Amino acid sequence: MNMHAVSEAAPAFPIPDNVFAEKVVAVEHFTDHLFRFRITRPASFRFRSGEFIMIGLPNAEKPVYRAYSIASPSWDEEIEFFSIKVPDGPLTEHLQKIKLGDTVLMRKKPTGTLVLDALVPGKRLYLFSTGTGVAPFASLVRDPETYEKFEEVVLIQTCRQVDELTYITRLVEDLANDPLVGEMVEGRLKLFTSTTRQTFPRMGRITDLMGDGRFFDMTGLPAISPEIDRAMICGSMAMIKDTSAMMEGFGLVEGANNKPATFVVERAFVG
Ligand SMILES: Cc1cc2nc3c(=O)[nH]c(=O)nc-3n(C[C@H](O)[C@H](O)[C@H](O)COP(=O)(O)OP(=O)(O)OC[C@H]3O[C@@H](n4cnc5c(N)ncnc54)[C@H](O)[C@@H]3O)c2cc1C
Ligand SMILES: NC(=O)c1ccc[n+]([C@@H]2O[C@H](COP(=O)([O-])OP(=O)(O)OC[C@H]3O[C@@H](n4cnc5c(N)ncnc54)[C@H](OP(=O)(O)O)[C@@H]3O)[C@@H](O)[C@H]2O)c1
Repeated sequence: MNMHAVSEAAPAFPIPDNVFAEKVVAVEHFTDHLFRFRITRPASFRFRSGEFIMIGLPNAEKPVYRAYSIASPSWDEEIEFFSIKVPDGPLTEHLQKIKLGDTVLMRKKPTGTLVLDALVPGKRLYLFSTGTGVAPFASLVRDPETYEKFEEVVLIQTCRQVDELTYITRLVEDLANDPLVGEMVEGRLKLFTSTTRQTFPRMGRITDLMGDGRFFDMTGLPAISPEIDRAMICGSMAMIKDTSAMMEGFGLVEGANNKPATFVVERAFVG
């Protein structure tokens, strides 16, 4: 990094009270619309895998904060995020330009419903996502507790384009060699990806693929049952609505932190 880049990275505004100010330690761009980054983790910061937190940049007197699912598991020494780049988006038009050593602001209180505690015990865990909705599941599939609670985990991501699947595809491939969960995931974590707008071996919305049975034919999995299966759903409002209706059709019931049941949902974005 040259001197010019370092001076640009220094916060120009005071760090607000009651937020963590963390350093960027990794940035990786996947497409024109998607990237991931990692920041240092404050020693006192605790969260449950699957939760989200508000983040911002020190680029204004009153920074813009947005909700972000933490994509790293609760045991990780760093914090990872998987982000959209919205053209002219108040946060992401700047966030997409972050570099190593830059500062990211993080509020102190994580929250969210996509946590293992919000589900009653079951045997198989379905994680349904579209787009950046895969972020909380990138956390959960790397957490040993997920495999202590479930015999089998089925992670699903549907995107428009093939290259939007790169983040989760590579993450799951790399998990096989992970010293902490590598052995646990073997034969127990299944990744099912599909696209809707670019040619790929598996095409279609997950709701359509399940609705006409193609998903079950392709994977060899049995129909979803309330005795065995639990589900988490993260995507757009429309995706959540349609996937929830499908789960209810299988006999699952929506739960929450204070009322665990057989499936839970969270929006991947507002709008
Ligand atoms: C609980 C929760 C968790 C979230 N977790 C993540 C996350 O892990 N990663 C992430 O990138 N975003 C996440 N978001 C969305 C995030 O809060 C911001 O909306 C996003 O970073 C864009 O911010 P912005 O200020 O640039 O644009 P905004 O003004 O926030 O959004 C502008 C428009 O862009 C679209 N948009 C926003 N976010 C997305 C997205 N993620 N995918 C597709 N379209 C989008 C919507 O149409 C929105 O109206 C989450 C939102 C919620 C409510
Ligand atoms: N991702 C991109 O390449 C891209 C590029 C430019 C702009 N944007 C903008 O970013 C925003 C979000 O884009 P996104 O692609 O991240 O999210 P998205 O529009 O929610 O689409 C993500 C995936 O979810 C599927 N989907 C949508 N509604 C569904 C439902 N009701 N049930 C099941 N699956 C459903 C989509 O299929 P369908 O394709 O069938 O809708 C797509 O495969 C949009 O406003 C978009 O205009 C995205």
